[in-house]
Amino acid sequence: MITRVKKIDADSLAEAREIILSGGVVAFPTETVYGLGGNALDDGAVKSIFEIKGRPNDNPLIAHVCEGYDLSRIVDFDPPYAAALRRAFLPGPLTLVYPSRGKVSPRVSCGLDTLAVRVPSHPGAQAFLRAVGVPVVAPSANLSKHVSPTSAAHVLDDFDGKIPLILDGGACTGGIESTVCDVTGEYPVILRPGLVTREMIERLAGRCGAAPATLGPGEKAKSPGMLYKHYSPRCRTLLFPEDGRAEAEDAFRRETAAGNRALFLCEGKLADELNARGMSALNLGYCGEEMAARLYGLLREAEKRADVLIAVEPAERGGVMTGVLNRLKKACASADIPH
Ligand code: TXA
Ligand code: MG
Repeated sequence: MITRVKKIDADSLAEAREIILSGGVVAFPTETVYGLGGNALDDGAVKSIFEIKGRPNDNPLIAHVCEGYDLSRIVDFDPPYAAALRRAFLPGPLTLVYPSRGKVSPRVSCGLDTLAVRVPSHPGAQAFLRAVGVPVVAPSANLSKHVSPTSAAHVLDDFDGKIPLILDGGACTGGIESTVCDVTGEYPVILRPGLVTREMIERLAGRCGAAPATLGPGEKAKSPGMLYKHYSPRCRTLLFPEDGRAEAEDAFRRETAAGNRALFLCEGKLADELNARGMSALNLGYCGEEMAARLYGLLREAEKRADVLIAVEPAERGGVMTGVLNRLKKACASADIPH
């Protein structure tokens, strides 16, 4: 199969519509990361998304709909605080998990009785969703466990020859996936941190929980996808805590002495300092939003340029940093185990 990358216009949207409505998949941009889209109502299309990505079949998908879509067609029970969250943050990088009405393919939620729904704000995503006219499931458009894509070139790197069309909407400005928030209970609970932060949701809803980063024995995750090693570059990774930079520098010297290409990944000030001292460092940026926007591109750059990536965690300052640290830790985790 030849994979074409096309700018978003009337022609490419008509082509995307035809592909989606005949059960195929199309990659498209959103404000967070690129998605690998398929018709949520079409069992075969949903199945092929799991296959193309190599995604474990216990990790449910998000249904994407355009602005103005009547949610009551696919989900049940809508607490007042969920309506307030939608008014404040949608369209945008917030996915809400509702009780499902069972109208989409049962494969979407992998047997859960809930459905995650997202209304992306990216104009290209909106145009695509309007053109196809059906809810679209869209995991991030990367091979399972690999780094999420923030440009059409990233998508092509993972799926060249495997999908017919990539809609190119330029670089994603958000850079990390949407916040996933459960709205099936008395108050919202964040299952995956992102650009819509706990603080922002708390301000609006009065209270906001967050799923624990680790599970106790016998506990079941509400968002199964969060258990896997994820977002990982194809080079060795070492992760050091914020106060572990002396150890990180030791590791850099050790790796370099052994003839390995080593690269640091760390926040702006430290990266500047290391580079000034002749130790190659990728600069994540100087604030949470900047780090979110750059993280995945830098992880993909690292796997091309380095044998080993030495990441130093930026300080946890809440807000967007919670999402950035969550992704960085999963990307550089050493084992594919629940944690
Ligand atoms: O920003 C995003 O959300 C991107 C773009 C393409 O929209 N999509 C994305 O999809 O990140 P994916 O499949 O890579 O991640 C979906 C996450 C997983 O952690 C999954 O476990 C969780 O959402 N999820 C999906 N449905 C769920 C449900 N019914 N209950 C709990 N978690 C759910
Ligand atoms: Mg993903």
